[in-house]
Amino acid sequence: MSLLTLGIESSCDETSAAVVADGRVVLSDVIASSLEFHKQYGGVVPEIASRKHAEVIDSVVAKALDDAGVTPADISNIGVTRGPGLIGALLVGVSAAKALAYVWDKPLVPVHHLEGHISANFLQSPELEPPFTCLVVSGGHSHIVRVSDYGKFTILGRTRDDAAGEAFDKIARALGLGYPGGPVIDREAKGGDPHAIRFPETRFPDSLDFSFSGLKTAVLNYMNNTRARGGEINISDVCASFQYAVVDVLSDNLIAAAEMTGDIKIALAGGVAANSALKEAVNRKAFAAGLEVFCPKPVLCTDNAAMIASAAHYAALNGRFAGSDMNAVANWSLEDL
Ligand code: KG4
Ligand code: ZN
Repeated sequence: MSLLTLGIESSCDETSAAVVADGRVVLSDVIASSLEFHKQYGGVVPEIASRKHAEVIDSVVAKALDDAGVTPADISNIGVTRGPGLIGALLVGVSAAKALAYVWDKPLVPVHHLEGHISANFLQSPELEPPFTCLVVSGGHSHIVRVSDYGKFTILGRTRDDAAGEAFDKIARALGLGYPGGPVIDREAKGGDPHAIRFPETRFPDSLDFSFSGLKTAVLNYMNNTRARGGEINISDVCASFQYAVVDVLSDNLIAAAEMTGDIKIALAGGVAANSALKEAVNRKAFAAGLEVFCPKPVLCTDNAAMIASAAHYAALNGRFAGSDMNAVANWSLEDL
């Protein structure tokens, strides 16, 4: 008999619910995004995100059960993103999960959003088991994480300023390419030369940390200086060169982390893991180092509830449950699980 987990995710602008069997098989994954309502503001507006979550959460959960062909009686656990994220947005998912857990009399499992992103790899690759070393890169986070076992994480490196996705979003905005920036820069870069402009890559001695604020400033300076000289800006070259600088450091640090941990398996996770240049660079460098690479397909890289249900399945096996007094936590460290 399979253990079915209902996952609920509402930490940013995606309202999502999913049913996953045994932490590995996606039976349904419903994602309602409020992206269109944020676009005109150039980023996610927390108040709008919360309102949109509240409007659709009930129907998203109902559709997740329906798509999976199951009833509440079939569900073993309810997993929900408790944090980190936008507090008003998180509260909608947490309140819904608590209400359902109470009404259906099911155990409630608190899930860390990044643990969810990492677990997307368990859905993509049924053969993947810990230990492995994972690069988690999203709009809000850039971490290198050692996954020593299910639900056991050590942070080996992190950004000291902007997250990788944030850097993509800010540069895209400066280039007038709209929001979110990652997918459009990824597309534009395909027509550009990654070596056209040499942007700085920040590396720290004896550390796997990242920093992208210097790179961001360098790109903005390049554009201002070029415009001031009356020169022409080749958008595709700027995108390709900026993307190269981000991807080069991310991939180098991930390979260095695997050398440190001794893991032969490395994984990518989070929205930026959908980036084609990042996947290409990681695959190339991993091949040279004799490492095996895992990466979720794009829809499992960006926010979704199937990854939360997978993480909740393993958290429940580890005995991690919460009561109805559970609250959302906007800042929650992966190491405080
Ligand atoms: O994981 P995610 O959906 O949400 C957070 O937890 O933050 O990640 C969203 C981020 C955005 O910054 C978006 O620009 C970036 O992921 N992103 C990409 C790509 N697709 C999404 N960045 C680079 N290349 C992509 N193809
Ligand atoms: Zn995310």
